[in-house]
Amino acid sequence: MADPAIQVQQLCFGWTETQPILRQCTLSVPKGEFWMLLGTNGSGKSTLLRLLVGLLTPQSGQIHCFERVGFVFQNPDHQLVMPTVGADIAFGLVEEHLTLVEVRKRVDEALAAVNLAPLKQRPIYALSGGQKQRVAIAGAIARHCEVLLLDEPTALLDPESQLDLVQAVQTLVRERQLTALWVTHRLNELEYCDGAILMEKGQVVAQGKPLEICDRLVQTADSY
Ligand SMILES: Nc1ncnc2c1ncn2[C@@H]1O[C@H](COP(=O)(O)OP(=O)(O)OP(=O)(O)O)[C@@H](O)[C@H]1O
Ligand SMILES: [Mg+2]
Repeated sequence: MADPAIQVQQLCFGWTETQPILRQCTLSVPKGEFWMLLGTNGSGKSTLLRLLVGLLTPQSGQIHCFERVGFVFQNPDHQLVMPTVGADIAFGLVEEHLTLVEVRKRVDEALAAVNLAPLKQRPIYALSGGQKQRVAIAGAIARHCEVLLLDEPTALLDPESQLDLVQAVQTLVRERQLTALWVTHRLNELEYCDGAILMEKGQVVAQGKPLEICDRLVQTADSY
């Protein structure tokens, strides 16, 4: 098995001392693989991603994650801030203090990676939901992120765009040796991933092959 790109041990988090949200979570995602994170509403999936990216601080436990992490939100309108596709990706590179030529090269390369090269000058408002999500992913690629964290990126997309996006991320992971952790409620997306993690009430209750996790979810649903 490849080295983990994400490793979490005994992670605990709560907004108050008395109400735990994440309880002793332990999981790992191997480098270069596409994993999915599933669980009922409120089980702690988004909180876990926020801890991984450093937006929240754990109460206890360890997190080891590759340094360059890109985050893709459920709603791309909360993420894309500039008027055009090219400008938005370039904006994400401001902190890297690159030359104009380097910025252009990174933007062009990232757009090509998500098959959006012809849309570089396109206003953000003129994009479809799926194209917006690809722009968000291109932003992470331009910053040379090694890990992609995607929080229900298909939630607002139509079925065809959902399929396009999950296939695009599967290809990116394979071709660029990225590691992706993708939160979803859609069982049909599981067929595109290498492994899956299941959370219940703040705990990781299963981690393994997508089919095993799918079976377990179906059994849980049947038991209600
Ligand atoms: N800012 C906050 N302050 C207090 N409680 C919060 C906050 N954010 C989330 N929570 C609580 O933490 C728990 C876990 O929330 P989280 O958003 O991580 O769940 P989730 O698994 O992502 O759910 P969903 O599938 O609905 O997105 C929930 O009980 C939620 O109400
Ligand atoms: Mg969530």
